[in-house]
Amino acid sequence: MTMHDGEGHALTGATAEARDLFEHALELQRCYLGDPLEAIDRTITAAPGFAMAHITRGWMNLIGTEPRGFANARQSHANAAPLAKTPRERAHLEAMGQLANCDFHTAAATLQRLSIDHPRDLLALQIGHHIDFFVGDARMMRDRIARALPEWSEDRPGYHLLPAMHAFGLEECGDYVEAERQGRRAAALHPGDSWAQHAVAHVMEMQGRLKEGLAWMRDDPELWSRDSLLAIHNWWHTALYHLDLGEIDEVLTLYDGPIFGTKPPFSMTLGDAGALLWRLMLRGVDLGDRWDVLADLWTQVEGRSLYAFNDAHAVMAYVGAGRRSKAVEVIAALEEAAAGDNSNAIFSSQVALPVARAFLAFGDGDYTGCAALLLPVIPIAHRFGGSHAQRDVLDLTLIEAAFRADDEPLARAVTAERKAAKPHSVFTEAVFQRARAAAVVPA
Ligand SMILES: [Fe+2]
Repeated sequence: MTMHDGEGHALTGATAEARDLFEHALELQRCYLGDPLEAIDRTITAAPGFAMAHITRGWMNLIGTEPRGFANARQSHANAAPLAKTPRERAHLEAMGQLANCDFHTAAATLQRLSIDHPRDLLALQIGHHIDFFVGDARMMRDRIARALPEWSEDRPGYHLLPAMHAFGLEECGDYVEAERQGRRAAALHPGDSWAQHAVAHVMEMQGRLKEGLAWMRDDPELWSRDSLLAIHNWWHTALYHLDLGEIDEVLTLYDGPIFGTKPPFSMTLGDAGALLWRLMLRGVDLGDRWDVLADLWTQVEGRSLYAFNDAHAVMAYVGAGRRSKAVEVIAALEEAAAGDNSNAIFSSQVALPVARAFLAFGDGDYTGCAALLLPVIPIAHRFGGSHAQRDVLDLTLIEAAFRADDEPLARAVTAERKAAKPHSVFTEAVFQRARAAAVVPA
C-alpha cells in the first residue's frame, strides 16, 4: 500500500514507521531545530527504498552551501533516481540534481513549477525560498510563498512557516509594514519560530529601529535560540543593533559567546562572524587574535566552494588576518569559477570577484581602488545572494574607504544615500555628520 504524507502526497517506498520518521525530520527542518539530517538518516534506515527520504537528505545537505554538502547531495540523487516514481517526486529529484550540480537558477525554476502544481508541499516551498535567497531573487522569495498561501489554512501542520517565509520575502522587497505584520503573526502562531524571529529582526535592522530590535531579540532569547540552527545568525542580528548604537563591548561579548564561542566550522557561520569583525575593523576596534582564529577555521572548510558568496567572505577573513596570499588564492579560484557555465560563474563574475578585490584593496590601503571597485557592484550585489543586511557590509566598506581616501564628494554622497534609506540609525547620523564636517561643500 502506498503511504501518503499529511497533505496527501504519495510517498513511494515508505512504510508507516518511515513516514512518521520522515514527518518528524521535516518538522525539525521547517523549525530549524536539532539535527534534521540525523532524523532523515533514521528514516532511510527504516525504509531504504523511500524516494522522498533520499531526496530530502540531498536537500538538507545543499541548503548549508558547504562544499561537502554538494557531493553528499549528488550521492543522494543517485540513490533516489531509481526510486522516485510520482511526478512530484521526479520534479524534486530533478531540482535537487540541478542544485547539486551548481545550477541554482534552474533548480529555483524547477521548484517554482513544482510549487505551482503542489502548493501544499512545504518542503518544496522552503527549499525554493532558500534558493531564491541564494540567487538574490527578492521577488520570488515573496511571491513563491504568496502563490501558495490561499491553498493553506492555519490548522495545517507547519503553517506558521508560510507567513514567516512570506515576511522575509516582503522585507527583502522593502514592504516593511506587511513584513512585520506577517512575521509577528507567524511568531504568535508558533512561539519560538526562529525564521519569523529572523524576518522581524530584518525589518528592525532595515528601518534602524535599534532599541525595538533589541527588545524583540532580548525579550526571550531562550525561546528562539534553544537547539536552533538559526541561533548564531539571529544573535548576529542582535549584535548589529548594538553595533549601530556604538555598544562595542556588547558586540564583542556576543561574538565571543553565542555567535562564535563554539567556533562553528561552517561557511555561513564563518561568513557572519567575519562580516561582524570586518564591521568592527572599519571602526578601528582592536580585535586581538579573533581574525587569526577565524582565518584558521576558513582553511579547514573542506573542498572547493561552489557558492561565491562564501568565497567573498573567506577573502574578507584572510584580509582581516593579514594573510594576503590566502586571499589572493581564493580570488584566483573565483576567477576560475567565473569562467565556468553554472550559477557560480554568474555569482563569481558579476559580484564576488569585484567584491573580493575590493576587500583586498582595502587591506592594502588602496582605498581609492576599493571604492572604485565597490561603486558599480553594490547596486547589483544581490545577484550573488544574501540579504540586504548582509550586503550592507559593502556599503559600510565603501563609506569608510571614501573617508580614508579623502574623497569628500563620495563620502557626502554615500552617507546621504544611507541617511535617506535609514534615517533613524545612530551610526548613519554619525557618518552623515562626519562627511559634512570634513567636506568642502561643492560649488
Ligand atoms: Fe538575516
